[in-house]
Amino acid sequence: MAIKTCLMIGAGGMAGGWISMFTKSFSDRIKIIGLVDVNKDTLQRQGQALGLGDDRLFTDYREAMDKIKADFCGIATPPQFHSPQAISAMEHGMPVICEKPIADTLDSAKAMIRTSQRTGLPCAIIQNYRYAPNKQELVRIREEGRLGRLQHILGRYACDYRKYGSWGAWRHDMEFGLLFEGSVHHFDMLRFLSGGDCEVLMGFGWNPEWSSFKHFSSGMYLMKMDNGVHTFYEGNSSAAGILNCWHSEYYRAEFENGTVEISYGSQIAIHRAGQDTEIYEAPAMNISGHNFLFAEFLDWLDGGKPSVTRIEDNIKSFAMVIAAVDATKDGQSKRIADYLTDLDL
Ligand SMILES: NC(=O)c1ccc[n+]([C@@H]2O[C@H](COP(=O)([O-])OP(=O)(O)OC[C@H]3O[C@@H](n4cnc5c(N)ncnc54)[C@H](O)[C@@H]3O)[C@@H](O)[C@H]2O)c1
Repeated sequence: MAIKTCLMIGAGGMAGGWISMFTKSFSDRIKIIGLVDVNKDTLQRQGQALGLGDDRLFTDYREAMDKIKADFCGIATPPQFHSPQAISAMEHGMPVICEKPIADTLDSAKAMIRTSQRTGLPCAIIQNYRYAPNKQELVRIREEGRLGRLQHILGRYACDYRKYGSWGAWRHDMEFGLLFEGSVHHFDMLRFLSGGDCEVLMGFGWNPEWSSFKHFSSGMYLMKMDNGVHTFYEGNSSAAGILNCWHSEYYRAEFENGTVEISYGSQIAIHRAGQDTEIYEAPAMNISGHNFLFAEFLDWLDGGKPSVTRIEDNIKSFAMVIAAVDATKDGQSKRIADYLTDLDL
């Protein structure tokens, strides 16, 4: 496994997290050879830490792609930049690993898929929450039939972002910030935990009068998956009471012979009617979250299996976001397949 060179787009925020993970955990597999950020201070600071000369630091991704030939391109900028940056990277011959959500519109997400298919280059999307011990254990319980068949799952996300800027100002200003920035993780999780893809979605979104968001901070969506499992989602970025914020989202899965609850940490609670609750720690993982996805992507580049959350699969989670936007606007239920008919998946 030769070391892979990376052109990194984004240097602050989550991108700063990527750089730190690359440096700490992947120094034997990844070398950042070019860095892009529109914020010059962030760019200089991270560039210095990485030992990159000025000729490897860019404020314009197009210039970077013309000058830096890397083995892959990492993208962790806000959603509206993902598609142009990913498409340009693939057109310059670089496979892409990109933060969620895939993009800011369905058309721009589809353009990324088509570019990946036309160039034959891998494009993976980050869905780090799948790779947590409690989520993996819940999936094992379902797959092994430990509690019989699964009928439905409830997912709850609730963060106290009542102060403007507490979730990054741009998320408080954008349209449908809950869905694009938050729920895309939870819709993806409901696909992962249920083992089905969403067939039909319906629901509502709203903005409480006291919200710090310009657009809807809250919503409730109901989904029927294609394996017959039903799922329900409560999303609330104006939470003031019981919090189920990042890494502590609450999922309750109702099986034939019991209920599984997961939230923070690695704890699994199994309730069986008439019996004491069984509580235990999910088996630890050697590698989790973003690191799991980076390793999986590098293995793909080395000829291994494609990333599970490659763009051609993850579009099914992103389409749920778009369907939720549309359902919120017109109050009608949506079929996810209708959003994907023009793609060859
Ligand atoms: N997977 C996760 O758990 C997770 C967590 C947080 C954010 N994210 C995702 O990461 C992405 C970035 O979010 P963030 O919170 O880091 O945002 P941020 O605003 O904190 O940071 C974005 C960085 O990108 C830079 N940037 C902005 N526009 C750019 C452009 N056109 N070209 C180059 N650089 C640009 C900014 O200067 C900043 O350094 C989003 O897609 C978000 O959904 C994922």
